[in-house]
Amino acid sequence: MMLLKLIARKKIKTILAIVFVLCLFLFTFIIDTHDFVKRARVLTGHIVLDNITCYGDSSTNGSIDTFSIYETMNKTVSSKNIFFFQTNCFGSEGVVLKPRQLCAIESAALMNPNMSIYLLILSHSKFSNNTEDNVKMLLTNYNNIFIKRIYTNDYFKNTPLEDWWKSGVFYESYWPKSHMSDVLRFLTLWKVGGIYLDLDIVVKSSLENLTDFVGAEDAIDANAAVFGLGHTEIGRHVANMCIEDLRKNFRGDNWGNNGPGVITRVLQKLCSTKNVADMTTSKCQGFTVYPPSDFFPIPWKKWKLYFDAKEKNKTMDKIKNSRTIHLWNLHSKSERINVGDQVPYGIIANKYCPMTYNNCGKVF
Ligand SMILES: *[C@@H]1O[C@H](CO)[C@@H](O)[C@H](O)[C@H]1NC(C)=O
Ligand SMILES: *[C@@H]1O[C@H](CO)[C@@H](O)[C@H](O)[C@H]1NC(C)=O
Ligand SMILES: *[C@@H]1O[C@H](CO)[C@@H](O)[C@H](O)[C@H]1NC(C)=O
Ligand SMILES: *[C@@H]1O[C@H](CO)[C@@H](O)[C@H](O)[C@H]1NC(C)=O
Ligand SMILES: *[C@@H]1O[C@H](CO)[C@@H](O)[C@H](O)[C@H]1NC(C)=O
Ligand SMILES: *[C@@H]1O[C@H](CO)[C@@H](O)[C@H](O)[C@H]1NC(C)=O
Ligand SMILES: *[C@@H]1O[C@H](CO)[C@@H](O)[C@H](O)[C@H]1NC(C)=O
Repeated sequence: MMLLKLIARKKIKTILAIVFVLCLFLFTFIIDTHDFVKRARVLTGHIVLDNITCYGDSSTNGSIDTFSIYETMNKTVSSKNIFFFQTNCFGSEGVVLKPRQLCAIESAALMNPNMSIYLLILSHSKFSNNTEDNVKMLLTNYNNIFIKRIYTNDYFKNTPLEDWWKSGVFYESYWPKSHMSDVLRFLTLWKVGGIYLDLDIVVKSSLENLTDFVGAEDAIDANAAVFGLGHTEIGRHVANMCIEDLRKNFRGDNWGNNGPGVITRVLQKLCSTKNVADMTTSKCQGFTVYPPSDFFPIPWKKWKLYFDAKEKNKTMDKIKNSRTIHLWNLHSKSERINVGDQVPYGIIANKYCPMTYNNCGKVF
Protein backbone atom coordinates (compact mmCIF):
# COMPACT_ATOMS: atom_id res chain seq x y z
CA MET A 1 0.00 0.00 0.00
CA MET A 2 2.64 2.46 1.15
CA LEU A 3 4.76 1.62 -1.85
CA LEU A 4 1.84 2.11 -4.26
CA LYS A 5 1.04 5.47 -2.70
CA LEU A 6 4.65 6.47 -2.97
CA ILE A 7 4.75 5.51 -6.62
CA ALA A 8 1.50 7.37 -7.22
CA ARG A 9 2.85 10.44 -5.52
CA LYS A 10 6.04 10.22 -7.52
CA LYS A 11 4.00 9.90 -10.69
CA ILE A 12 2.01 12.98 -9.82
CA LYS A 13 5.19 14.83 -9.17
CA THR A 14 6.61 13.69 -12.48
CA ILE A 15 3.42 14.65 -14.30
CA LEU A 16 3.42 18.03 -12.60
CA ALA A 17 7.02 18.54 -13.56
CA ILE A 18 6.28 17.63 -17.20
CA VAL A 19 3.25 19.91 -17.26
CA PHE A 20 5.34 22.70 -15.82
CA VAL A 21 8.07 22.29 -18.41
CA LEU A 22 5.48 22.12 -21.19
CA CYS A 23 3.86 25.30 -19.95
CA LEU A 24 7.20 27.02 -19.83
CA PHE A 25 7.90 25.90 -23.38
CA LEU A 26 4.53 27.05 -24.65
CA PHE A 27 4.95 30.31 -22.82
CA THR A 28 8.26 31.08 -24.49
CA PHE A 29 6.87 30.15 -27.89
CA ILE A 30 3.58 31.97 -27.55
CA ILE A 31 5.36 35.08 -26.40
CA ASP A 32 7.12 34.95 -29.68
CA THR A 33 8.80 38.25 -29.20
CA HIS A 34 12.25 39.09 -30.07
CA ASP A 35 12.52 40.87 -26.74
CA PHE A 36 11.53 38.12 -24.42
CA VAL A 37 13.85 35.48 -25.79
CA LYS A 38 16.75 37.82 -26.26
CA ARG A 39 16.35 39.42 -22.86
CA ALA A 40 16.35 36.01 -21.24
CA ARG A 41 19.53 35.21 -23.13
CA VAL A 42 21.16 38.43 -22.01
CA LEU A 43 20.18 37.84 -18.40
CA THR A 44 21.54 34.31 -18.46
CA GLY A 45 24.76 35.41 -20.08
CA HIS A 46 24.13 33.63 -23.38
CA ILE A 47 24.88 36.58 -25.54
CA VAL A 48 27.68 39.05 -25.41
CA LEU A 49 26.52 42.61 -25.46
CA ASP A 50 27.53 44.65 -28.46
CA ASN A 51 30.99 46.21 -28.43
CA ILE A 52 30.27 49.93 -28.61
CA THR A 53 33.64 51.29 -27.58
CA CYS A 54 33.77 53.44 -30.72
CA TYR A 55 30.76 55.54 -29.68
CA GLY A 56 32.70 57.93 -27.50
CA ASP A 57 35.81 57.72 -29.65
CA SER A 58 36.94 61.03 -31.05
CA SER A 59 40.18 60.01 -32.73
CA THR A 60 40.28 61.26 -36.27
CA ASN A 61 42.55 58.71 -37.91
CA GLY A 62 41.78 57.40 -41.34
CA SER A 63 40.34 58.71 -44.50
CA ILE A 64 36.58 58.90 -44.02
CA ASP A 65 35.40 62.49 -43.80
CA THR A 66 33.19 63.74 -41.05
CA PHE A 67 29.53 64.20 -41.90
CA SER A 68 28.47 67.80 -41.73
CA ILE A 69 24.87 68.87 -41.94
CA TYR A 70 26.08 71.90 -43.89
CA GLU A 71 27.04 69.78 -46.87
CA THR A 72 23.39 68.82 -47.23
CA MET A 73 22.17 72.36 -46.71
CA ASN A 74 22.10 73.32 -50.36
CA LYS A 75 19.74 70.44 -50.92
CA THR A 76 17.64 70.46 -47.78
CA VAL A 77 15.02 72.70 -49.35
CA SER A 78 13.93 69.75 -51.41
CA SER A 79 15.11 67.14 -48.83
CA LYS A 80 16.69 65.04 -51.50
CA ASN A 81 18.75 62.89 -49.15
CA ILE A 82 18.61 59.19 -48.35
CA PHE A 83 20.36 58.01 -45.18
CA PHE A 84 21.69 54.63 -44.13
CA PHE A 85 23.57 53.94 -40.87
CA GLN A 86 26.20 51.38 -39.91
CA THR A 87 26.41 51.48 -36.12
CA ASN A 88 28.85 48.60 -35.55
CA CYS A 89 32.25 49.24 -33.97
CA PHE A 90 35.12 47.62 -35.80
CA GLY A 91 38.59 46.73 -34.56
CA SER A 92 41.91 46.89 -36.36
CA GLU A 93 40.48 44.95 -39.33
CA GLY A 94 38.64 48.14 -40.32
CA VAL A 95 35.06 48.86 -41.27
CA VAL A 96 33.35 45.94 -42.98
CA LEU A 97 30.35 46.42 -45.24
CA LYS A 98 28.74 43.22 -46.44
CA PRO A 99 27.65 42.79 -50.07
CA ARG A 100 23.99 42.84 -49.06
CA GLN A 101 24.48 46.16 -47.27
CA LEU A 102 26.33 47.62 -50.25
CA CYS A 103 23.47 46.35 -52.41
CA ALA A 104 20.98 48.44 -50.45
CA ILE A 105 23.14 51.53 -50.98
CA GLU A 106 23.79 50.85 -54.65
CA SER A 107 20.11 50.23 -55.39
CA ALA A 108 19.17 53.52 -53.72
CA ALA A 109 21.78 55.34 -55.79
CA LEU A 110 20.83 53.63 -59.04
CA MET A 111 17.11 54.27 -58.72
CA ASN A 112 17.51 57.82 -57.38
CA PRO A 113 20.15 59.57 -59.49
CA ASN A 114 18.81 62.94 -58.37
CA MET A 115 19.22 62.19 -54.67
CA SER A 116 22.27 62.10 -52.39
CA ILE A 117 22.76 58.73 -50.75
CA TYR A 118 24.59 58.89 -47.42
CA LEU A 119 26.01 56.01 -45.42
CA LEU A 120 26.90 57.33 -41.96
CA ILE A 121 29.21 55.26 -39.80
CA LEU A 122 30.41 55.53 -36.21
CA SER A 123 33.54 53.42 -36.22
CA HIS A 124 37.08 54.59 -36.87
CA SER A 125 37.85 55.75 -40.31
CA LYS A 126 39.39 52.97 -42.32
CA PHE A 127 37.81 50.28 -44.47
CA SER A 128 38.84 46.66 -44.31
CA ASN A 129 40.73 45.50 -47.39
CA ASN A 130 37.82 43.70 -49.05
CA THR A 131 35.36 46.41 -48.27
CA GLU A 132 37.67 49.09 -49.56
CA ASP A 133 37.74 47.62 -53.07
CA ASN A 134 33.96 47.33 -53.22
CA VAL A 135 33.46 50.80 -51.81
CA LYS A 136 35.92 52.31 -54.31
CA MET A 137 34.05 50.64 -57.14
CA LEU A 138 30.74 52.15 -56.03
CA LEU A 139 32.16 55.58 -55.33
CA THR A 140 33.79 55.79 -58.75
CA ASN A 141 30.67 54.61 -60.58
CA TYR A 142 28.02 56.54 -58.69
CA ASN A 143 28.51 60.23 -58.08
CA ASN A 144 25.61 60.37 -55.62
CA ILE A 145 26.97 58.04 -52.90
CA PHE A 146 28.69 59.59 -49.87
CA ILE A 147 30.19 57.72 -46.94
CA LYS A 148 30.78 59.86 -43.86
CA ARG A 149 31.57 59.48 -40.19
CA ILE A 150 29.60 60.75 -37.22
CA TYR A 151 31.10 61.59 -33.83
CA THR A 152 28.33 60.94 -31.35
CA ASN A 153 29.44 63.50 -28.78
CA ASP A 154 29.27 66.24 -31.39
CA TYR A 155 26.20 64.94 -33.15
CA PHE A 156 23.87 65.32 -30.17
CA LYS A 157 25.08 68.82 -29.33
CA ASN A 158 22.53 71.61 -29.73
CA THR A 159 19.67 69.17 -30.29
CA PRO A 160 16.71 68.32 -28.01
CA LEU A 161 18.53 65.05 -27.24
CA GLU A 162 21.71 66.66 -25.89
CA ASP A 163 20.86 66.27 -22.20
CA TRP A 164 19.32 62.86 -22.80
CA TRP A 165 22.57 61.68 -24.42
CA LYS A 166 24.69 63.15 -21.61
CA SER A 167 22.51 61.42 -19.00
CA GLY A 168 23.99 58.09 -20.12
CA VAL A 169 20.64 56.30 -20.10
CA PHE A 170 21.45 55.12 -23.62
CA TYR A 171 24.27 52.94 -22.27
CA GLU A 172 21.77 50.83 -20.32
CA SER A 173 20.49 49.42 -23.61
CA TYR A 174 20.62 45.66 -24.20
CA TRP A 175 20.81 46.30 -27.93
CA PRO A 176 22.92 49.44 -28.22
CA LYS A 177 23.81 48.99 -31.90
CA SER A 178 20.20 48.65 -32.87
CA HIS A 179 19.03 51.40 -30.54
CA MET A 180 21.77 53.74 -31.75
CA SER A 181 20.51 53.20 -35.25
CA ASP A 182 16.98 54.03 -34.07
CA VAL A 183 18.08 57.23 -32.38
CA LEU A 184 20.29 58.41 -35.25
CA ARG A 185 17.61 57.95 -37.91
CA PHE A 186 15.16 60.20 -36.04
CA LEU A 187 17.83 62.70 -35.07
CA THR A 188 19.25 62.94 -38.59
CA LEU A 189 15.87 63.46 -40.24
CA TRP A 190 15.09 66.01 -37.52
CA LYS A 191 18.34 67.83 -38.40
CA VAL A 192 18.32 67.73 -42.19
CA GLY A 193 15.23 65.96 -43.49
CA GLY A 194 15.18 63.20 -46.06
CA ILE A 195 14.48 59.51 -46.18
CA TYR A 196 15.83 56.81 -43.87
CA LEU A 197 16.36 53.25 -45.10
CA ASP A 198 17.50 50.07 -43.34
CA LEU A 199 20.54 48.30 -44.78
CA ASP A 200 18.55 45.16 -45.57
CA ILE A 201 16.42 46.79 -48.21
CA VAL A 202 16.60 46.82 -51.97
CA VAL A 203 15.21 49.93 -53.63
CA LYS A 204 13.25 49.15 -56.81
CA SER A 205 11.86 52.54 -57.75
CA SER A 206 12.41 56.25 -57.40
CA LEU A 207 11.68 57.63 -53.94
CA GLU A 208 12.40 61.16 -55.13
CA ASN A 209 8.92 62.56 -54.77
CA LEU A 210 8.04 60.95 -51.44
CA THR A 211 8.45 63.33 -48.52
CA ASP A 212 6.41 62.74 -45.38
CA PHE A 213 5.65 59.06 -45.20
CA VAL A 214 6.20 55.72 -43.55
CA GLY A 215 5.66 52.10 -44.59
CA ALA A 216 3.19 50.00 -42.63
CA GLU A 217 4.36 46.51 -41.76
CA ASP A 218 0.83 45.20 -41.17
CA ALA A 219 -2.56 46.55 -40.12
CA ILE A 220 -1.35 47.40 -36.64
CA ASP A 221 2.27 48.52 -36.83
CA ALA A 222 4.32 51.01 -38.75
CA ASN A 223 7.86 49.87 -39.42
CA ALA A 224 10.77 52.26 -38.94
CA ALA A 225 12.79 50.59 -41.71
CA VAL A 226 11.58 53.11 -44.31
CA PHE A 227 10.30 56.60 -43.65
CA GLY A 228 10.70 60.16 -44.80
CA LEU A 229 10.42 63.53 -43.10
CA GLY A 230 10.74 66.54 -45.33
CA HIS A 231 11.11 70.25 -44.82
CA THR A 232 7.38 70.73 -44.83
CA GLU A 233 5.20 71.85 -41.97
CA ILE A 234 3.95 68.32 -41.37
CA GLY A 235 7.46 66.88 -41.79
CA ARG A 236 8.87 69.20 -39.12
CA HIS A 237 5.91 68.54 -36.84
CA VAL A 238 6.33 64.75 -37.03
CA ALA A 239 10.13 65.03 -36.63
CA ASN A 240 9.62 67.03 -33.42
CA MET A 241 7.06 64.54 -32.15
CA CYS A 242 9.41 61.61 -32.81
CA ILE A 243 12.33 63.24 -30.99
CA GLU A 244 10.09 64.15 -28.08
CA ASP A 245 8.66 60.63 -27.86
CA LEU A 246 12.14 59.14 -27.99
CA ARG A 247 13.43 61.43 -25.26
CA LYS A 248 10.50 60.64 -22.97
CA ASN A 249 9.97 56.96 -23.72
CA PHE A 250 13.40 55.51 -24.55
CA ARG A 251 13.73 52.03 -23.09
CA GLY A 252 16.96 50.07 -23.23
CA ASP A 253 15.22 46.82 -22.26
CA ASN A 254 12.70 46.75 -25.09
CA TRP A 255 14.03 46.06 -28.57
CA GLY A 256 11.21 47.55 -30.63
CA ASN A 257 10.28 50.47 -28.41
CA ASN A 258 12.65 53.06 -29.83
CA GLY A 259 12.20 52.60 -33.57
CA PRO A 260 8.89 51.10 -34.71
CA GLY A 261 7.46 51.97 -31.30
CA VAL A 262 8.24 55.67 -31.66
CA ILE A 263 6.76 56.07 -35.13
CA THR A 264 3.68 54.00 -34.32
CA ARG A 265 2.92 55.98 -31.12
CA VAL A 266 3.49 59.29 -32.88
CA LEU A 267 1.14 58.31 -35.70
CA GLN A 268 -1.54 57.14 -33.30
CA LYS A 269 -1.46 60.59 -31.77
CA LEU A 270 -1.16 62.50 -35.05
CA CYS A 271 -3.93 60.58 -36.82
CA SER A 272 -6.17 60.09 -33.75
CA THR A 273 -6.63 56.42 -34.50
CA LYS A 274 -5.06 53.26 -33.18
CA ASN A 275 -4.66 50.97 -36.16
CA VAL A 276 -2.19 51.80 -38.86
CA ALA A 277 -4.65 50.42 -41.44
CA ASP A 278 -7.07 53.26 -40.60
CA MET A 279 -4.49 56.01 -41.05
CA THR A 280 -5.45 57.92 -44.17
CA THR A 281 -3.44 60.88 -45.37
CA SER A 282 -6.27 63.24 -44.51
CA LYS A 283 -6.64 61.83 -40.99
CA CYS A 284 -2.85 62.15 -40.61
CA GLN A 285 -2.75 65.83 -41.56
CA GLY A 286 -0.92 65.21 -44.82
CA PHE A 287 1.42 62.46 -43.65
CA THR A 288 1.12 59.26 -45.72
CA VAL A 289 1.13 55.72 -44.35
CA TYR A 290 1.77 53.33 -47.23
CA PRO A 291 0.29 49.83 -47.08
CA PRO A 292 2.63 46.82 -46.59
CA SER A 293 2.56 46.09 -50.34
CA ASP A 294 4.61 49.26 -51.03
CA PHE A 295 7.70 48.59 -48.92
CA PHE A 296 7.25 45.18 -47.26
CA PRO A 297 5.54 43.07 -49.92
CA ILE A 298 6.59 39.83 -48.20
CA PRO A 299 5.78 39.73 -44.46
CA TRP A 300 8.61 38.73 -42.12
CA LYS A 301 7.13 35.34 -41.37
CA LYS A 302 7.51 34.46 -45.07
CA TRP A 303 11.06 35.81 -45.49
CA LYS A 304 12.19 32.45 -46.91
CA LEU A 305 10.29 33.17 -50.11
CA TYR A 306 13.11 35.51 -51.12
CA PHE A 307 15.43 32.50 -51.19
CA ASP A 308 12.99 29.98 -52.63
CA ALA A 309 13.49 28.97 -56.28
CA LYS A 310 10.33 26.84 -56.45
CA GLU A 311 8.00 29.69 -55.53
CA LYS A 312 9.96 32.15 -57.63
CA ASN A 313 7.26 33.10 -60.14
CA LYS A 314 4.64 33.69 -57.47
CA THR A 315 7.03 35.72 -55.32
CA MET A 316 8.26 37.82 -58.24
CA ASP A 317 4.64 38.55 -59.06
CA LYS A 318 3.92 39.59 -55.47
CA ILE A 319 6.84 42.03 -55.37
CA LYS A 320 6.37 43.29 -58.92
CA ASN A 321 4.90 46.67 -57.98
CA SER A 322 6.58 47.32 -54.65
CA ARG A 323 8.90 50.31 -54.20
CA THR A 324 11.35 48.34 -52.08
CA ILE A 325 11.77 44.86 -50.71
CA HIS A 326 12.83 44.29 -47.12
CA LEU A 327 14.90 41.19 -46.49
CA TRP A 328 14.26 40.84 -42.73
CA ASN A 329 17.98 40.43 -42.14
CA LEU A 330 17.51 39.40 -38.54
CA HIS A 331 15.99 36.17 -39.84
CA SER A 332 17.59 35.85 -43.26
CA LYS A 333 21.22 36.79 -42.66
CA SER A 334 22.52 33.23 -42.60
CA GLU A 335 20.62 32.13 -45.69
CA ARG A 336 23.14 31.70 -48.46
CA ILE A 337 22.80 32.81 -52.07
CA ASN A 338 25.27 31.67 -54.70
CA VAL A 339 25.65 34.34 -57.33
CA GLY A 340 23.49 33.27 -60.27
CA ASP A 341 20.93 31.34 -58.22
CA GLN A 342 17.47 31.90 -59.67
CA VAL A 343 15.90 32.96 -56.39
CA PRO A 344 13.96 36.22 -56.00
CA TYR A 345 16.59 38.04 -53.90
CA GLY A 346 19.35 37.10 -56.38
CA ILE A 347 17.29 38.18 -59.40
CA ILE A 348 16.42 41.49 -57.75
CA ALA A 349 20.03 42.11 -56.68
CA ASN A 350 21.31 41.42 -60.18
CA LYS A 351 18.92 44.03 -61.52
CA TYR A 352 19.04 46.76 -58.85
CA CYS A 353 22.59 46.49 -57.49
CA PRO A 354 24.39 44.98 -60.50
CA MET A 355 27.89 46.13 -59.61
CA THR A 356 27.83 44.83 -56.08
CA TYR A 357 26.13 41.58 -57.02
CA ASN A 358 28.51 40.79 -59.86
CA ASN A 359 31.67 41.67 -57.95
CA CYS A 360 31.07 40.09 -54.55
CA GLY A 361 32.64 36.73 -55.29
CA LYS A 362 30.69 33.47 -55.36
CA VAL A 363 28.38 34.10 -52.44
CA PHE A 364 26.03 37.04 -52.12
C1 LIG B 1 45.70 56.97 -34.59
O1 LIG B 1 46.95 57.21 -35.15
C2 LIG B 1 48.00 57.30 -34.20
C3 LIG B 1 49.29 57.66 -34.90
O2 LIG B 1 49.17 57.60 -36.27
C4 LIG B 1 48.12 55.98 -33.46
O3 LIG B 1 49.11 56.07 -32.48
C5 LIG B 1 46.79 55.64 -32.81
O4 LIG B 1 46.83 54.37 -32.20
C6 LIG B 1 45.66 55.66 -33.82
N1 LIG B 1 44.39 55.47 -33.17
C7 LIG B 1 43.47 54.62 -33.61
C8 LIG B 1 42.21 54.56 -32.84
O5 LIG B 1 43.62 53.93 -34.61
C1 LIG C 1 26.09 75.80 -51.65
O1 LIG C 1 26.10 76.15 -53.03
C2 LIG C 1 26.80 77.34 -53.32
C3 LIG C 1 26.70 77.67 -54.80
O2 LIG C 1 25.90 76.76 -55.48
C4 LIG C 1 28.25 77.20 -52.92
O3 LIG C 1 28.95 78.39 -53.17
C5 LIG C 1 28.32 76.85 -51.43
O4 LIG C 1 29.66 76.60 -51.08
C6 LIG C 1 27.48 75.63 -51.12
N1 LIG C 1 27.48 75.42 -49.69
C7 LIG C 1 27.83 74.27 -49.12
C8 LIG C 1 27.79 74.24 -47.64
O5 LIG C 1 28.17 73.30 -49.77
C1 LIG D 1 35.90 46.51 -29.07
O1 LIG D 1 36.21 47.16 -30.32
C2 LIG D 1 37.43 47.90 -30.27
C3 LIG D 1 37.59 48.59 -31.59
O2 LIG D 1 36.52 49.43 -31.85
C4 LIG D 1 38.59 46.97 -29.99
O3 LIG D 1 39.77 47.70 -29.94
C5 LIG D 1 38.33 46.26 -28.67
O4 LIG D 1 39.34 45.31 -28.46
C6 LIG D 1 36.99 45.55 -28.68
N1 LIG D 1 36.71 45.02 -27.36
C7 LIG D 1 36.26 43.78 -27.18
C8 LIG D 1 35.98 43.39 -25.78
O5 LIG D 1 36.08 43.03 -28.11
C1 LIG E 1 16.13 64.13 -62.26
O1 LIG E 1 15.81 65.51 -62.29
C2 LIG E 1 15.57 66.02 -63.59
C3 LIG E 1 15.37 67.50 -63.54
O2 LIG E 1 15.53 68.03 -62.29
C4 LIG E 1 14.36 65.33 -64.18
O3 LIG E 1 14.13 65.80 -65.48
C5 LIG E 1 14.58 63.84 -64.20
O4 LIG E 1 13.39 63.20 -64.61
C6 LIG E 1 14.96 63.32 -62.85
N1 LIG E 1 15.35 61.93 -62.96
C7 LIG E 1 14.74 60.96 -62.28
C8 LIG E 1 15.18 59.59 -62.57
O5 LIG E 1 13.89 61.19 -61.46
C1 LIG F 1 45.39 44.74 -46.09
O1 LIG F 1 46.24 45.28 -47.04
C2 LIG F 1 47.47 45.77 -46.53
C3 LIG F 1 48.24 46.46 -47.64
O2 LIG F 1 48.03 45.86 -48.85
C4 LIG F 1 48.25 44.62 -45.90
O3 LIG F 1 49.42 45.11 -45.34
C5 LIG F 1 47.38 44.00 -44.80
O4 LIG F 1 48.03 42.87 -44.28
C6 LIG F 1 46.02 43.59 -45.34
N1 LIG F 1 45.19 43.17 -44.23
C7 LIG F 1 44.52 42.06 -44.24
C8 LIG F 1 43.70 41.77 -43.01
O5 LIG F 1 44.52 41.30 -45.18
C1 LIG G 1 9.23 64.19 -59.27
O1 LIG G 1 8.53 65.42 -59.42
C2 LIG G 1 9.14 66.31 -60.36
C3 LIG G 1 8.38 67.62 -60.32
O2 LIG G 1 7.04 67.43 -60.30
C4 LIG G 1 9.13 65.68 -61.75
O3 LIG G 1 9.76 66.51 -62.67
C5 LIG G 1 9.87 64.34 -61.68
O4 LIG G 1 9.79 63.68 -62.91
C6 LIG G 1 9.30 63.45 -60.59
N1 LIG G 1 10.14 62.29 -60.47
C7 LIG G 1 9.66 61.05 -60.48
C8 LIG G 1 10.63 59.96 -60.38
O5 LIG G 1 8.47 60.82 -60.56
C1 LIG H 1 7.93 30.53 -64.25
O1 LIG H 1 7.61 31.28 -65.41
C2 LIG H 1 8.34 30.91 -66.55
C3 LIG H 1 7.95 31.82 -67.72
O2 LIG H 1 7.67 33.09 -67.28
C4 LIG H 1 8.04 29.47 -66.90
O3 LIG H 1 8.84 29.07 -68.02
C5 LIG H 1 8.35 28.59 -65.72
O4 LIG H 1 7.97 27.27 -66.00
C6 LIG H 1 7.63 29.07 -64.49
N1 LIG H 1 8.07 28.29 -63.36
C7 LIG H 1 7.25 27.74 -62.52
C8 LIG H 1 7.86 26.97 -61.38
O5 LIG H 1 6.04 27.85 -62.60
